[in-house]
Amino acid sequence: MGRPPGRSRRLLTLWQGRFAGRPDEALLAFTASLAFDRRLAADDLAGSRAHVRGLGRVGVLDDDEVAAVLGALDEVEAELAGGGFAFAPDDEDVHTAVERRVTELAGPAGAKLHTGRSRNDQVATDLRLWCKRELAGVATSVLELQAVLLERAVEAGDAYLPGYTHLQRAQPVLLAHHLLAHGWALARDVDRLCDARRRLDVSPLGAGALAGSSLPLDPDAVAAELGFAGRFENSLDAVSDRDFVAESLFALALLGVHLSRLGEEVVLWASEEVGFLGLDDAWATGSSMLPQKKNPDVAELARGKAGRLVGHLCGVLTTLKGLPLAYNRDLQETQEPLFDAVDQVNLALAALGGLLASATFHTAAMAAAADGPAAAAVDLAELLVEGGTPFRDAHAVVGELVRRSLDGGQDLADLVAGHPDLGTQATGLLAPGVAVSRRTTPGGAGPQPVAAQVASFRARLDDDRRRVGDPASP
Ligand code: ARG
Repeated sequence: MGRPPGRSRRLLTLWQGRFAGRPDEALLAFTASLAFDRRLAADDLAGSRAHVRGLGRVGVLDDDEVAAVLGALDEVEAELAGGGFAFAPDDEDVHTAVERRVTELAGPAGAKLHTGRSRNDQVATDLRLWCKRELAGVATSVLELQAVLLERAVEAGDAYLPGYTHLQRAQPVLLAHHLLAHGWALARDVDRLCDARRRLDVSPLGAGALAGSSLPLDPDAVAAELGFAGRFENSLDAVSDRDFVAESLFALALLGVHLSRLGEEVVLWASEEVGFLGLDDAWATGSSMLPQKKNPDVAELARGKAGRLVGHLCGVLTTLKGLPLAYNRDLQETQEPLFDAVDQVNLALAALGGLLASATFHTAAMAAAADGPAAAAVDLAELLVEGGTPFRDAHAVVGELVRRSLDGGQDLADLVAGHPDLGTQATGLLAPGVAVSRRTTPGGAGPQPVAAQVASFRARLDDDRRRVGDPASP
């Protein structure tokens, strides 16, 4: 077939001039990234638009050529959106596919699109644009889960449960306090996502393959047009840097670890042994064999996904380790873990939010577990401290009473009442709900500090919503 007049010949590969032979099918199968990097299509189009306008501004393309390429890019966008974009078997990656189609649509002007650009700066640009948007999306989803925790915390009022250390009952805490503890961990995740986003907000476009260009490109203007905070300082660094992928994966992995800890508590609380939480039918699963089962699979998967997320982080760091400057194809391997991490975290956030919003807290069971007599042990010791006993001695006195109660089967309250330095006035501390009400210090687990904490958590949530919603205030 001859070449259509005025149109560029469709290329089998982007480098076919240098090669006499065809690439082996197995090479194409091994190197192709289209299956996953098509997710970068919207960002690739944005990068190409900015690049072609930049070429127009510096006179490398004339106005008609710029218009032709922009028109073709619009067409490609419409084809992609409508599902009518026909990927060709030789489309190695999304960048190749878009350039091929633009060239088919715009002819010789389309063949100028890649002037002064390499896929090396192109893919780095696409991936940064993708991360900027997606990390903000994840942060928004984290804020939604935090809002659920806040709502449930407010609704929990003065309900309390045992707080644990070593998974042994330690001191009673408000349920609101426990829920917000997870909320604050998530607040640090939002912070990390915003921070990673701020640091990756640098345009690599104009770095070319590795060294910049002989053409009068203006990377600053292109960066501004793409909404980046600035441009690269070093072209080698620009095309070889995937720190932002590793940092994003760290933020996502730690977020995943937080979700796994929350998931584990849901699993524990939903167990018959603990019985603090009932799952809504919509957020529980049954058993194929055991008719009586109602299982917390959502919470277990939230726990389990953390392994996958940490694995992605480790995998990408290992891929990056020891890579010489500048671009190496190994870098393509950083994309799938990133995409998957964002997908999995988004799924987990939505599922845990649904589970928590609909779960029933069994506050009577929580209170019964928290009101064990030893829950106020430290309060008894602190009462002795108020009377002048050194804390270490007070600790020993109460410890001995607890031991006698456990060994001799006597009520701790009776032993307390009979103790000369404690007496009946001290037994009031053992009454239900008293111990938790005495946690009055800032940031503590009792009603007063928790009321203040609810207010500061709400304010933080509002601030973070603004921060995440407004890219200019990272
Ligand atoms: N698909 C490639 C990637 O994601 C694009 C860059 C290819 N560059 C190259 N020099 N082969 O990394």
